[in-house]
Amino acid sequence: MKPKAHIMHLPVYQPGKPIDEVKKEFGLTEVVKLASNENPFGSSPKAKQAIVNHLENTHIYPDGASVELTAAVARHYGVGTNQIVFGAGSDEVILMIARAYLSAGDETITADRTFPQYKHNAEIEGATVIEVPLKDGTHDLDAMLAKVTDRTKIIWVCNPNNPTSTIVTAAEVGRFLDKAPNHVLVVLDEAYAEYIVSEEYPDSIALLEKYPNVVTLRTFSKAYGLAALRIGYGIGRPDVIRTINQVREPFNTTGFAQAAALAALEDQAFIERCRDENARGIAYLSGQFGKLGLKHFPAYGNFMLVDVQRDAKTVYEQLLSKGVIVRGGHTASIGFPSMIRVTVGSEEQNLKFISALEAVLNETVVVAE
Ligand SMILES: Cc1ncc(COP(=O)(O)O)c(C=O)c1O
Repeated sequence: MKPKAHIMHLPVYQPGKPIDEVKKEFGLTEVVKLASNENPFGSSPKAKQAIVNHLENTHIYPDGASVELTAAVARHYGVGTNQIVFGAGSDEVILMIARAYLSAGDETITADRTFPQYKHNAEIEGATVIEVPLKDGTHDLDAMLAKVTDRTKIIWVCNPNNPTSTIVTAAEVGRFLDKAPNHVLVVLDEAYAEYIVSEEYPDSIALLEKYPNVVTLRTFSKAYGLAALRIGYGIGRPDVIRTINQVREPFNTTGFAQAAALAALEDQAFIERCRDENARGIAYLSGQFGKLGLKHFPAYGNFMLVDVQRDAKTVYEQLLSKGVIVRGGHTASIGFPSMIRVTVGSEEQNLKFISALEAVLNETVVVAE
């Protein structure tokens, strides 16, 4: 048995360590996971009730077209129902876009460092990935434009960018889209959009009026707190959405996910509370990092990338032993060897993280910059 040659080098996705495994390994009773940018406040009680209400339907296939949810999301954004496509998480929407638009010989442009699934899925399709270094932790949109050729099919813009949590502004995105040729699909991945408090963040749905080549990705996994159910979506012009739908599996989102997402969308008060708590968490962590003499990129999502000025693997492991799971920048998917990525938690979780970090900084040696 021989797999396709062009996928042989691909890594198998390494998820963050599960809480139970860390408890067992270090003999701990309390472990805080701040590694996967999950919502520390769970999900709306209305979404949980919707899951319970759906229990009698386990024997029925889900609505493959997500009719009710599509209508609700379309109303929420003021777009047509033919402008939305759902996936098993926005991960699957990324996969479907790559599947629909990329072939061997095509080029696609991403930032270096960014969410790894753009590159991963592009490589599965045999496309060539052009990676453009971040500038001060932010997408360098001009440098990305400079890499466009006749063969470029997709540019991926992760906004806020995972792992740096930085944004590109409405003005920057506008200038970029004015120059990006129409044959290039521009994917704006806005997985953390609900957390944004900055006035400078682009209104990517409004951009669709002027730029037919834009697709926005959103998810119910982050602020909506439904990561376990796997549901995200893309919003774009009807022709683009139809193309993505052509490669979609018939029943790619479950009835549970659709029901919970519908209820979660209606509870915008929950989202507002989470956004406020997150902003407070960022302010607290930012202040504490300052006191500890640590620099971080300006954070707009529900996570921060902080330079601990030490070997990230060591700091990651020491934090683990104290019951705090973060993402170490030493891993291939993050790629900042003296930094750690931490999810903004609840007040209690943030306190625990800072006290563990303080202890670890005292126990470890600074590496040269
Ligand atoms: C930038 C970004 N895009 C997409 C995703 C995928 O999220 P999901 O598949 O849960 O919607 C993530 C998850 O971490 C992310 O950080």
